[in-house]
Order: sequence, then C-alpha cells, then structure tokens
Amino acid sequence: MTISYDVADGQQASRASEPQVLGPDAKTGNERLVGAKTAAAGAPTLKAGDVKAKPADGRKSGWTGSGKAKGEKPEFHRRTTPPDLSKALDNGVAAVRRNLLIVLLFSCVINVLVLSIPVYLFQISDRVLTSRSLDTLVMLTGVIIGAVLLQAAFDAIRRFILMRTAVELASQLGSPILAAAARASLNSNGKEYQILNDLQQLRGFLVSGTMMAFLDGPFAPLFLVAIYLIHPHLGMIVGGTCVLLLVIAVINQKITSRHFSDANQNQSKANLHLDAMSRNSQIINALAMIPEAVHLWGRDTAASLRAQVSAQDRNIVSASITKAVRLLTQVAMLGWGSFLAIQGELTGGMVIAASIIGGRALAPIEGAIEGWNQYLLSRNSYGRISTLLKSSPLNSERLVLPKPQGRLDVERLLYVPQGTKRVVLNSITFSLKAGDSLAIIGNSGAGKTTLGKMLVGSILPTSGAVRLDLMDLRNWNQRQLGENIGYLPQDVQLFPGTIKQNIGRMREDASDEQIYEAACLADVHAMISELAHGYETVVAADGAPLSGGQKQRIALARAFFGNPRFVVLDEPNSNLDTNGDEALARAMAHAKAEGITVVAITQKPSLLKCVDRILVLADGSISMFGARNEVLELLADRKKQKAVQQQG
Ligand SMILES: Nc1ncnc2c1ncn2[C@@H]1O[C@H](COP(=O)(O)OP(=O)(O)OP(=O)(O)O)[C@@H](O)[C@H]1O
Ligand SMILES: [Mg+2]
Repeated sequence: MTISYDVADGQQASRASEPQVLGPDAKTGNERLVGAKTAAAGAPTLKAGDVKAKPADGRKSGWTGSGKAKGEKPEFHRRTTPPDLSKALDNGVAAVRRNLLIVLLFSCVINVLVLSIPVYLFQISDRVLTSRSLDTLVMLTGVIIGAVLLQAAFDAIRRFILMRTAVELASQLGSPILAAAARASLNSNGKEYQILNDLQQLRGFLVSGTMMAFLDGPFAPLFLVAIYLIHPHLGMIVGGTCVLLLVIAVINQKITSRHFSDANQNQSKANLHLDAMSRNSQIINALAMIPEAVHLWGRDTAASLRAQVSAQDRNIVSASITKAVRLLTQVAMLGWGSFLAIQGELTGGMVIAASIIGGRALAPIEGAIEGWNQYLLSRNSYGRISTLLKSSPLNSERLVLPKPQGRLDVERLLYVPQGTKRVVLNSITFSLKAGDSLAIIGNSGAGKTTLGKMLVGSILPTSGAVRLDLMDLRNWNQRQLGENIGYLPQDVQLFPGTIKQNIGRMREDASDEQIYEAACLADVHAMISELAHGYETVVAADGAPLSGGQKQRIALARAFFGNPRFVVLDEPNSNLDTNGDEALARAMAHAKAEGITVVAITQKPSLLKCVDRILVLADGSISMFGARNEVLELLADRKKQKAVQQQG
C-alpha cells in the first residue's frame, strides 16, 4: 500500500509551463530587461545571454503577440487531464468495498469458529461425561484449541485489513478533498475545509467496534438458526429479543439524534473560534482580548458539551435497557431450557450451548445499537465528502487555451454578496487592451478591492462577466489561468517558507531564473539582497522577520512570477516608503515594457503617473473612466468647483 498526497492536475499543469529557451529575437527584449533591472538594483550584472530560459510566453511565442512570425505554430499549454475528484471518490469507495468483502469472508469463518466452544460444551456434557472416554476428551480439546487459535488469528487479520483500509481511504481522499474544499471556499467562508475532519470520522469508524458489530451482524441469523435447531422455543426467545432490541435502537436514534447534531454544530462553531484565535494571536495579546476570546470559544464548547451530555444520558439509558434485555434473555433461555430438559426434550449441555450461542447472536445487535450514533455521524460525513467531490467544478474538463495576451473585458458586473441585499458593485463595464495599465481610485468602501478580486476570479460576480482574452474567467482552465495572472491582495499574507518559495508561489518546479526574474520585475532584488539570508530567509506564518512594506514587496514579486499577462495590484504602495514607491514605479514601467496588463488599485497619487487609464469608483459604480490626463483634469476641475462652491 502506497500513501501519497497529490492532486494530479497540479503536477501535470506545472510541468506544462516548463521554461523554454527562446530564439535570438525574443532574447533581445530579455537582455534589455535584465540590464535595466540589475542597474537599478545595484546587483551584479548578468552577462548577455545568461538568462536564456524564460517561461513559455504567448506574446513572444508567435501565436498571439506582435512578434508573431508567419507560419509559426500556435503554442498551447499541454492539455492536462482534470483531477476528476468524483473518480477519486469512486476509487476510494471501491477500495473500501473490496477490503470489506475480504473482511466479511474472514468474519464468516470467525463466526463459524465461534460455534466451536458451544459445540465443545455440548459434546463434553452429552458424550464425554456419559461415555467417560478420555481419548474423546483429549481429541475434542485438541480440535477446539486449534479452532480458538485460528479464530484469534483471523480476528487479528481482519483488524489489520480494516486498519489499512482506513489508511488507504484517508490517503486516497485526503488530497481530492483538500483540493475540492479549496476550490469550494471561493463561494463561502472556507467552512468546506472542515470536511477534512469528516474524513477523520470515516477513518475512525472503519476501525471502530461498531464496524466490527456491523460485520458480525449478518451472521446473527446463523446463530438464530442454530438455536432454533436445538429447540424452537429457545429460537423464538432469541428471535423475539432481536426484534425488541431493534425497536429500542430505533427509539434511541429518535431521542438522541437532535442532541448529537446540536453537539456537533456547536463543536464546529467552537473550532471556528479557535481557528480565528490562532490566526489573530498577536492582536488578542496586544489588546488583552484573551478573556473575550476564551469566552466565545467556551460558550460554544459548553453548549456542545451540554448537548452531548443529554444525548449520552439517553444513549446510556438505551444501552442499559439493551443490556438488561440481553441478560434477561439468557436467564429466560436457561430457565426455559432447564424446564425443557426436565421434560426430557433437551440435555443440560444443549441448554448451556444454546445460551452461549444466544449471547453471541445478540452481541452484534447490542454493539450496533451502542455505536449507532457513530454510524450516523459517519454516514453524514460520507454524504458531505461525496457531495463536495462530486459537485466540485474541478471535475469539469476545460479546454486549455493558448497563453493569453492580457486583453481584459469587464461586462455589466453586479455583485450582491451571498446572504445580503447590499449591492457592492453595480453595472461595471470597461475594457483594457493587452499591455494597458489602469489605476482604480475611489473612496474607502467604494468597492475597489471587491472589483480587484473579481478581476482575478477570486470571487465570482452575481451577474456579468470578466473576460481575459475574450474567455470568461469561469471557463478558463483554472490552473492555466492562475499561472497567467498575478495578484497582490490588499491584506498581504505569505506562506510559511523561504522568500524564494514565496516568490515562486510554493511551486517545486520554479526555477531560480524565474524567481530572480520576478524579483527583478517587481524591483525587490536589492531589498532581498540586504537580508541576512537573502532569498533563503525563512518567513513565518505571520510574515516575521519581514516588515509590512517588505512583505508587500515580496508579494509584488510573487504577483509577477511566471511572466503573467495580467496583474492586479491592490494598494501595492500602502506600506511603502519613498524608495518603495520609486521601486514600484519602476516595476510598473518594467511591466509596461513587457506588455503586461496591469490594474493597480490605489489611494496615492504617486502611482497615477505610471498608468495609461484611470477608473474612478464611487459607491460601487464607475463615476469616471478614461485616459489618465483627461480623468485627472476632470478631477481637478471638480475639486476647483467644489472649492468655489464652499467659498461662495
Ligand atoms: N462579503 C461581503 N459581504 C457584505 N459586504 C461586503 C462584502 N464584501 C465587501 N462588502 C462591502 O463592500 C464594500 C466595498 O468593500 P471593498 O473592500 O471593496 O472596499 P474598498 O474600496 O477596497 O475600500 P478600501 O479603500 O478601504 O480598501 C464595503 O462597504 C464592504 O462592506
Ligand atoms: Mg480595498
């Protein structure tokens, strides 16, 4: 059994954009860029031709851009097979079914072997004791010892198989669930990540005592028949008890299910608080919010525990009644069996053997009742996993298109966040040519960040469309789209790892050249060089040891990694000093030279000098859109008018 965690798509798609060596004409632009970058950064200058490898670039590859040579073939990313998450689910379920079938076979043998002790008893009391034959006793004992040892060995084997089945399920479904959850969280607040816990629940169930009871359950009728053959009356007593136990089970399920589901819901809420606490640990400490945070977590945990107590109370009562019924059944069997023995219809050995078999027939039913809640939880967990994997948009295969040029069309965007009636963006329509740069300005809360997220597809519009090279973002192959766009969020978060890894978007196949190139394009090479460990500086989850501005600039390099064709920068200079501002201006100029379409959301006028167009957003709608100078003049006019009005 191999345990590995990977989503096929990620691996294949990353291979699809392996760096390619460019021809001499394409290299010219490259060398010019490197020269400019290194001069600006004061870093050791590379010799011409040092940077030969460059990621596949549609603009220069000849299919799309101005440099297209006649007769050159269009360059497509290699077609990638989608991860097909529902197939992963089917495979996982098939593996579990296959193994359970084997375990069932073992269970069958074990349950037959269980009969050996009652048969032994039966033979001793009715044959050995009456015939007083020592040979028979020795032979019988030898056979029974063999049967008991075999039973123990088979039981161990089925537990081994179940344990491995649980691990196989976890390893087969772990990556697909995480991938599907990450994708599904696009439309929600990330609660899908909790479905990984459901996998844990399923894993636990597979190795639980309840599972064993379920596996032994199908053989209860066999025991029932054996008792019936000993005497029909005894068979009826056990049969009646089975029905009674099932009735108790149904009642138990009805009276506990609401409490158990309350307990689980509150536990999930408490987990969310815990998650928020761990993410905001610095703020919690600085603002002395520990009591409040603990209170919030404690409130939900207490509610969960209270619900659990009431559910377990009911469960314990049901379990005790079940146990009493089982013991009373054995008493009844012994009592009525003795009566039948007095009547001469049975022997003493038969009565005791029937009582043992009866206990064995009822044990799985009792076990199933006790673990019924666990079964329900696992069934719900499986339901959630199955829905997530089957409905994941990652399942649908998308045509892999040529590398985009960077043309952007935004059509009548409307955004009303789920569960609210607030219109955050309204009829936003504009277009940008490949290589254009646009600044989006507007008051706080105007909807700039929301629009930026929509442009890179990290939130989906309620209606309308964002198109990159004419294709709606929703219809792009997601991995290909991600490789061709860059995004610097307003709230920068880096991944725990080195700066190198962060710039390379944590990709294992990110070459040093690509990382260096991104750092140069974002003009952060000089800044990184000043750090004690340079590109190997390890960044913690909270961004330490980098300052806010440094984090922002690393994230800028990450946005430019992989030679994207379209980049959205959300307030890229909010944490920058004058040097940082200048570096950003140079980065914008480099992007312009590379023909990258850039949308920069900003509040600062310094960035406006570097863009071709300006869009002014007010209350979620476009109030102005046009060439930079025209918009700036209009804004200046408005300012003057306002000033005159105020004076008047
Ligand atoms: N998921 C959401 N649910 C409800 N309201 C939302 C949601 N997302 C954004 N908003 C609202 O949309 C408005 C625009 O938010 P956005 O973050 O886009 O503003 P912004 O222009 O980027 O502001 P700032 O300059 O302060 O960053 C805000 O009033 C915000 O409350
Ligand atoms: Mg914002």
